[in-house]
Amino acid sequence: MKNIDSFTHVRGKSIYLDDIPVLQGTLYGAAYGSPVAHGKITSLDVSEAEAMPGVVRIFTAKDIPGENQIGGIVPDEPLLAEGHVHFNGMPVAFVVAESAEAAQAAVHKVKIEIEPLPVITDPREARAKGELIVKPRQFVLGDVDAAWSQCDYIFEGIAETGGQEHLYIETQGAYSIPLENNRQKVYSSTQGPTAVQRHMAVVLGVPMHQLEVDVTRLGGGFGGKEDQATLWACLCALATHHLKRPVKYSLHRMEDMRMTGKRNPYSSDFKIGLSKDLKILAYEAEFHQNAGASADLSPAVLERTLFHCTNSYFIPNVKATAFSCRTHLPSNTAFRGFGGPQGMFVIESAIAKAAEELGIDKADIQKANLLRTGDEFPYGQKAVSEAVECWSKAESLYELDKIKCGIADFNSTNKLFRKGLSLMPVCFGISFTKTLMNQARALVHVYTDGSVGVSTGAVEMGQGVNTKMLQVAAQVFSINPNKVKIHSTSTFRIANTSPSAASATADLNGKAVQMACTEILQRLKTRAAERLQCEVGNIEIKNEFVWLNGAQTDISWENLVLDTYFNRISLSEHAHYATPDVHFDGTKEKGHPFAYHVYGTAITVVTVDCLRGTYEFDAVKIVHDFGSSMNPIIDRGQIEGGLVQGMGWMTMEEIVYDGEGRLRSNALSTYKVPDIYSVPKEIAIDYLQTEKDNLAIFRSKAVGEPPLMYGIGAFFALRDAIKAFNPSASPAFSAPMTPEKVLLALYSKPVKE
Ligand code: MTE
Ligand code: MOS
Repeated sequence: MKNIDSFTHVRGKSIYLDDIPVLQGTLYGAAYGSPVAHGKITSLDVSEAEAMPGVVRIFTAKDIPGENQIGGIVPDEPLLAEGHVHFNGMPVAFVVAESAEAAQAAVHKVKIEIEPLPVITDPREARAKGELIVKPRQFVLGDVDAAWSQCDYIFEGIAETGGQEHLYIETQGAYSIPLENNRQKVYSSTQGPTAVQRHMAVVLGVPMHQLEVDVTRLGGGFGGKEDQATLWACLCALATHHLKRPVKYSLHRMEDMRMTGKRNPYSSDFKIGLSKDLKILAYEAEFHQNAGASADLSPAVLERTLFHCTNSYFIPNVKATAFSCRTHLPSNTAFRGFGGPQGMFVIESAIAKAAEELGIDKADIQKANLLRTGDEFPYGQKAVSEAVECWSKAESLYELDKIKCGIADFNSTNKLFRKGLSLMPVCFGISFTKTLMNQARALVHVYTDGSVGVSTGAVEMGQGVNTKMLQVAAQVFSINPNKVKIHSTSTFRIANTSPSAASATADLNGKAVQMACTEILQRLKTRAAERLQCEVGNIEIKNEFVWLNGAQTDISWENLVLDTYFNRISLSEHAHYATPDVHFDGTKEKGHPFAYHVYGTAITVVTVDCLRGTYEFDAVKIVHDFGSSMNPIIDRGQIEGGLVQGMGWMTMEEIVYDGEGRLRSNALSTYKVPDIYSVPKEIAIDYLQTEKDNLAIFRSKAVGEPPLMYGIGAFFALRDAIKAFNPSASPAFSAPMTPEKVLLALYSKPVKE
């Protein structure tokens, strides 16, 4: 089945926040952001801005009737700066005017005086100064200190990954509409409608039931709208609260880039110990996460770095410590993979370092240490592993030996081009690591004409979750998918939602839809059995007809639905699903946090132009563990998109802040993302179909985030090519590996002819 949104998407007819027809009297907002990264506000003067044509009012912290607080995990984030500013771009005032242009023009007339304070942008400096967001976290398995003495080889190093701009096609935004009795309806481009609702209630000092948050779809979120959509909705709601008029704010791209957080950059230290037969015996890592100015989701991101710090490998002795460091940058946040990629990059760097020092193939070490079923993760859960299956299948299916020979031939005959290869195994845990968030609800109505309406807490952001929800309902009822409609995500229809994140949206909400539909189906069958005077067990509903003892009757779906209604039996159901068996004890850092893991292996081949430092990816060939994919077309899209997004992070997307905490890569002219020319020439995807029982919906497996980490292979393929050209080159393990860095690395040491 195609994505149900594709028809309107390709025609430009899908409705995003900025496409919602505006009501008469709508006003437009624009935020004024601090011009400096850290300092004390000594004066703020909005009088000139307020006198500008079209300006209705300018809001500052003193206009907040409730609490000036929108921190999600830690209450350390004001909605509008008060007293101090903590990053360049931090909202200080909110201008509301008759048009978006008038609001933008007035923003430039706000006057502020700030006494500057020292600016920290580097996480290691923040740690040294004791600027930590939360207490350090440490995962321990075995006894690392004792294990070093058993190692034949020990290597140490530093690995660094940069930030990443989410660059959702639709920027952040919100549109608040006043209703009677101080109620509001707020359209928000958010992955977390309940988070928006909860924080608006805190800011306005009203109960949550007064505020409806309604989401039709997002033009991408990628984690950037899990927490960071809240701010804009709160600003609009604040203005609506005072002015009793609709207020809309849809950010300009450059405002969005400057004011919102990105993927957390990390700077990490590693130490790895191996035996002669290449078993990794010990691994120690210290992660310095650049959290930015406030906690946001960084503590949770930090945790997932630890969960995935050994990637797809079993290592018996591990000590991993993680520091969430407060700097004067916009608060960094969730981004596809949620800290997992940052953790995996470090172990991959450690393995590469070991291989290079030993003069062997990195893949030999990787392969010798792949996780097997029954192996223990550093957090106590035992693996049900497909790591070896994925790796072996990638080797045989894609004829790795042939690929290697081809590369060797090419490299020995070419003077100015070199090819490089990498293998990248991935293991990613599915579930929110905060156990309580693993719950979801669905509301299903069957209408008297036989059509079905489904509401869930899932937010459609391009990942195709609505299509999957529709498939669940159609399959349980055995009706044509065109009889089912998925409604917008509204906090009035579905309450207390977890954000659409952690790749778990389809699993959690899908199970709730399945439960609700199954309950209604049972009532329909009971009614049919009454009518046919037989046992319910003999009734089936198949292809829109009632079947009795395996034979089709003349009772149609519509007929049965209407008859059930006439007999005053409910055709609606609200179901609640909570993932069983997941738990985690934060005091011991042990438990069983994940419902299951997703595995895969990617083979990446790159060609580097050694005169220019530019490169092209010949191919990425993947074996991915899909379970029994619910929708192979959508899942292929997730693999391709995730892969390319990961490759962008590893190769070309370079976020640059200067020492003053000012974003220099603040537009698409200075921040490069993959385009059609930079995607691999070939992306091969093999579906490793596993029929095993798991906690996913219809035995599928979550697919949203795991493929991003295949992109890490791009970094190591480039490194392989560089070393093929200049074996003495040893560039830093510092991503992204931009063409500039590749060029410098190629000639960093004299090239032997
Ligand atoms: N795919 C598209 N097209 N757009 C997105 O914003 N977000 C990713 C991933 N795939 C995203 C996407 C992220 S960060 C997550 S966590 C998952 O989708 C969320 O959706 P799921 O739980 O339904 O997989
Ligand atoms: Mo995804 S980073 O969990 O929104």
